[in-house]
Amino acid sequence: MDVPLYLEPRLESRLASLLRARTFLHTLAGGLGSPLNVVLPDRIAENLAAFRAVYRRHHLSGGIYFAHKANRSSALVRRLAATDAGMDVASVRELQHALGAGFAPDRILATGPKNGEFLWLAARTGTAVHVDSPGELDELAALVRDHRLPRVRVLLRLSGFRTPGVRLLSRQSRFGTAEGDLDGLLKAVERHGDAVELTGVGYHLDTTSPAEKAVALEGCVKALDTCRVRGFTPRAVDIGGGFGTDYLADGAQWQRYTTELTNAALGTRPPMTWRRHTYGLRNENGTLRGALALYPAHRPTAGARYLDELLSLPAPSLGRPLATLLLENLYELHTEPGRALVDQCGVTLARVLEVRRTQPSERSEAVDDRTSPGHLLVRLDANADDIGLEEHGVLVDPVLVPRTARPVPDTGPVAVYLAGNLCLEADMITRRAVHLPAAPRPGDLLVFANTAGYCMDFSADEAQQQPVARKAAVWQEEAADGLPQEDAPWHWCLDEQYWPHVPRRTKGTA
Ligand SMILES: Cc1ncc(COP(=O)(O)O)c(C=O)c1O
Repeated sequence: MDVPLYLEPRLESRLASLLRARTFLHTLAGGLGSPLNVVLPDRIAENLAAFRAVYRRHHLSGGIYFAHKANRSSALVRRLAATDAGMDVASVRELQHALGAGFAPDRILATGPKNGEFLWLAARTGTAVHVDSPGELDELAALVRDHRLPRVRVLLRLSGFRTPGVRLLSRQSRFGTAEGDLDGLLKAVERHGDAVELTGVGYHLDTTSPAEKAVALEGCVKALDTCRVRGFTPRAVDIGGGFGTDYLADGAQWQRYTTELTNAALGTRPPMTWRRHTYGLRNENGTLRGALALYPAHRPTAGARYLDELLSLPAPSLGRPLATLLLENLYELHTEPGRALVDQCGVTLARVLEVRRTQPSERSEAVDDRTSPGHLLVRLDANADDIGLEEHGVLVDPVLVPRTARPVPDTGPVAVYLAGNLCLEADMITRRAVHLPAAPRPGDLLVFANTAGYCMDFSADEAQQQPVARKAAVWQEEAADGLPQEDAPWHWCLDEQYWPHVPRRTKGTA
């Protein structure tokens, strides 16, 4: 094989220490089965603190609402309940979960399109509702009146923001109400004044582009100004989520990998993927068409740093930094980070069941034999729905954690395809050849790092009656300064048994 095309995961100190705890990880997987999700609740509190520090730097107040949809873990939610975080819930079950974890309704925001049950429980408990459409506002108001409930705090979700002139700069969304229809929406809020109280406006844009978000943020400030002219007193701008995560340790690996993927699509290098999958690229008579349908796995400016950068951008038409714009109006900033708040908060373990060479016919379709004498098919005791990295377009290598301490046979780097445990051709955990420093053996674990954001339990189901992964919460003893000691022993409990009050030394050590 030529130079291996690694995409090594970014592992900060806690995750790196966990991955070095070979016996601990094997004991957990031995006891709880494969696949197994492992979450690190203390890390989510650190991520929250990084977001809060950005608020402080810009002298802004407001809520940081964890977008619960990113992960179902009770431990993560309960750990957040012990901080000043809020919760962004997108279903009635998520709302119940947040309430049960200790979040009072004034720390919860109900977002996304809602059904009657979700609206009722939000209204009954006094949870603020981020209204998705005029119809939803009518339904909420009717429900409040019918059940004689107190007025419900509402924010209006807007979309389709424009800069002056006709150039549409922010992305279209199927959610929210077009900014241009604000007038009609405010008439509805006036009509429903006995049932709802307008506290803010907001957006969530499915884009990584700070420029598009700057247009939307400025649009929200202007919308708040309009609301105030109309006699309302909202103060919050909710800028949704989408702050992103940097999955990779080395940006140069990402550049090299994507360049080679492009070359493979053009046919100027051997294929790198299962059955010539091209991740959205195509070769039309020697011209590259399409676009790489992948998450930008290397994002040096992600999470809290992305928020910092966005707030420092000049407002597209008003010119002042966006943070200044908020501050001079005494507006609050709400954020709904999902993926970014669970960065480095979890891993998924999968046991290797079988390692075999691909059949010649499979090889000829899938790989080039000139460069790769050793393509292997590795079958894991997990399926593609358990490890959603590929589904979410995140390309990152798993880490091999051998079963025994005896040295791994020096096979040298290998390219492997990772297949799942379903009796289904399509059940490939990755559709690309993954380069590993050594060949795995049955009984080893492959550890997929940083799966807590959408890639752990978002799509997990019981196809073929394979068990859904269990979840364990893990933590390390802390030194006197409150920081984890590097390679201190790891402790664990089942996710649903984790509560923040329990002293850090009393649960199981594997
Ligand atoms: C309304 C809303 N808020 C927040 C988020 C979280 O986004 P992310 O996980 O990219 O931060 C989403 C994701 O879909 C969303 O729809």
